Amino acid sequence: MPLAAPPIAVLISGTGSNLQALIDTTDGDYRIAVVISDREDAPGLGRARQAGIPTSVVPWSSYEDRDGFTDAVCESARGFGAEALVLAGFMRILGPSAIGAFPDAIINIHPALLPAFPGAHAVEQALEHGVRYTGVTVHFVDEQVDHGPIIAQEPVVILPDDDAGSLHARIQTVEHELLPRVVSAFGRGELAVDGRHVRWKQPTHSKGVR
Ligand code: GRF
Repeated sequence: MPLAAPPIAVLISGTGSNLQALIDTTDGDYRIAVVISDREDAPGLGRARQAGIPTSVVPWSSYEDRDGFTDAVCESARGFGAEALVLAGFMRILGPSAIGAFPDAIINIHPALLPAFPGAHAVEQALEHGVRYTGVTVHFVDEQVDHGPIIAQEPVVILPDDDAGSLHARIQTVEHELLPRVVSAFGRGELAVDGRHVRWKQPTHSKGVR
């Protein structure tokens, strides 16, 4: 890993399998400075501790409103030297001050092909809607939920006998490859935001859909 690998904060609320993928990607051009969770019982915090990564819990219930919570998350991340936030299964919406604190430097992963099925029930909604393909989107965060400039997408086929569990499992397999690839490209300074478009400054060896 180059010395210049930027420190990032990974934000989680739950299992942390995407965090694990980021930890396991040893050729990534980033360094996880801290893992932040809104829940002290998030199982993913154990993955961070196992890897020797500092953790920080910022409980949602400790703050009067979203802005106070957002400021506390950003202060925690900055306190550990983070230059970017990666939302990896973080189930809280950050307020606008986060965009100001980390401009073009907040990355989110979503289990659908945005703009289809934003929100917290994307896998179930894709099944209910009867689409034949769903997938994974990694995007920069803007002021709207699941809306910012798209960095990378990959499709996942929906099988006739899929339920939410089987479909989400295949989506997660794709997530675990795509998120570290995107964060590595970000860490190498290869992603440039141009309005709604994200330019990859160098071609990657990706087999994915950009
Ligand atoms: C992922 O499917 C992600 O797309 C969504 O929440 C899930 C988090 O899973 N935002 P994990 O905690 O990384 O296992």
